[in-house]
Amino acid sequence: MNRFLISLYILLLTVSTDVFSADVNKNINADAPEKVLVVYYSRTGNTQLVAEIIALALKAEVRRIEEVKERKGFISAYLFGGYSAIREKCSDIKPMDFNLEGYDLIFLGSPVWALKPVPAVNAFVSKANFKNKKVVLFFTMGGTNYQKAADILTKIIEEKGGIVKSSFGIQSGKKEKMSESTRKAL
Ligand SMILES: Cc1cc2nc3c(=O)[nH]c(=O)nc-3n(C[C@H](O)[C@H](O)[C@H](O)COP(=O)(O)O)c2cc1C
Repeated sequence: MNRFLISLYILLLTVSTDVFSADVNKNINADAPEKVLVVYYSRTGNTQLVAEIIALALKAEVRRIEEVKERKGFISAYLFGGYSAIREKCSDIKPMDFNLEGYDLIFLGSPVWALKPVPAVNAFVSKANFKNKKVVLFFTMGGTNYQKAADILTKIIEEKGGIVKSSFGIQSGKKEKMSESTRKAL
């Protein structure tokens, strides 16, 4: 009886984990690259968490994109931020290293705002040189849809000579689940 209950518990655990990460593309790390850079923007910490897990797993360097004017309240985040994201605008970001030379693979992370990438990530993409760079896009979002945001960034990066290998999305929520989904995506 005990053995039956343990098997049932393991089965339920497996099923629930699969449902949670159902929208994650697999085998991103099939050909492990040598030098990896993780670049991300995060307002409330979700994308930062995913970025740090990727960096730890792949021994990557990390760069955080920061806006000149921090979005603290509802109005600057949801009204102005959401509106800028809808219009695919770039925001003013703090000076940072835009040079991607010397990296084999770039992981670029953005929260999803109004189904689109955030203005700070648009700004980074507009300034960095992606020529011949392999890129993996990752997103965090309250829901499950990151495809439109991925399509937008893919188009711009490929117009700049980059090669977008794949993309994945992690639904925001409990840290443990986000961490587990991220590790599964790699
Ligand atoms: C302005 C704004 C718009 C958002 N729009 C969406 C959306 O369209 N779809 C979605 O699933 N989540 C949406 N969210 C939720 C965020 O994508 C989610 O909380 C994300 O994990 C935040 O990342 P961060 O903690 O790294 O800032 C939105 C959040 C904000 C602030």
